[in-house]
Amino acid sequence: MDADNTISLKEKIDLERLPKHVAIIMDGNGRWAKSKGKPRVFGHQSGVTSVREAAESAAELGIPYLTLYAFSTENWNRPRFEVTALMRLLLQTINDEVVTLNKNNIRLNAIGDLESLPKLNRERLLRAMDETSKNDRMTLTLALSYSSRWEIVQAARKLAELVENGSCKAKDVDQACFEGLLTTKGMPDPELLIRTSGESRISNFMLWQIAYAELYFSQKFWPDFRKEDLYEAILDYQCRERRFGKTSEQLTKKK
Ligand code: FPP
Repeated sequence: MDADNTISLKEKIDLERLPKHVAIIMDGNGRWAKSKGKPRVFGHQSGVTSVREAAESAAELGIPYLTLYAFSTENWNRPRFEVTALMRLLLQTINDEVVTLNKNNIRLNAIGDLESLPKLNRERLLRAMDETSKNDRMTLTLALSYSSRWEIVQAARKLAELVENGSCKAKDVDQACFEGLLTTKGMPDPELLIRTSGESRISNFMLWQIAYAELYFSQKFWPDFRKEDLYEAILDYQCRERRFGKTSEQLTKKK
């Protein structure tokens, strides 16, 4: 797509009706690399450019929360070589990008079982989160060693402990209290969930939080995902009627 088209797509977006939180399942790095006769790791490396493009375009538009599924609990089962390469890439990207995040007033956040990350990754990640903690233009959350079932089980365990030690009564358990025990505490739920690579699955990602999210499946492999692809997803989102269980007529009357 040429630059003119990109601008016109961006201009079509209604800035008053942006999703407050966009979440992305970045998929297709391996297939993208394979289609070019390259090793899978080349796909992951190339995917970093798309991470940058997505973060830049979301911040420029004024989207306050962007969450990227970077490494799932299940990804630990990949060949050791690929896991090591992904961890190295993550470390390198965090090192390279902290200055830019600060320049652009973006806070880095992470959700997932961070204890399971290699020590160096965890330490550098926590330091980067601390170094960007005062930024308030956008929160960029990386889901790392994350899976929704892991998150829900750890929330249930914490809740059981609270009930066990008497700080909470079973009859007082409600959605708000459960949400407060999830790793996304304090964040709005994603209103738009994008998955690349043509797969139409959620793959254990933010299952609680996406209860009312609009789903958008892009045919592009993640390394090919560019700013205009995010604009297209947002334009598609803005054409949807979000009813939250109500009828169309109820929504029209309210206007
Ligand atoms: C899915 O493609 C992608 C991943 C498991 C890793 C995502 C990582 C990056 C984009 C690079 C680093 C990211 C950050 C945030 C620094 P896949 O390997 O499952 O592709 P396939 O389905 O074609 O095999």
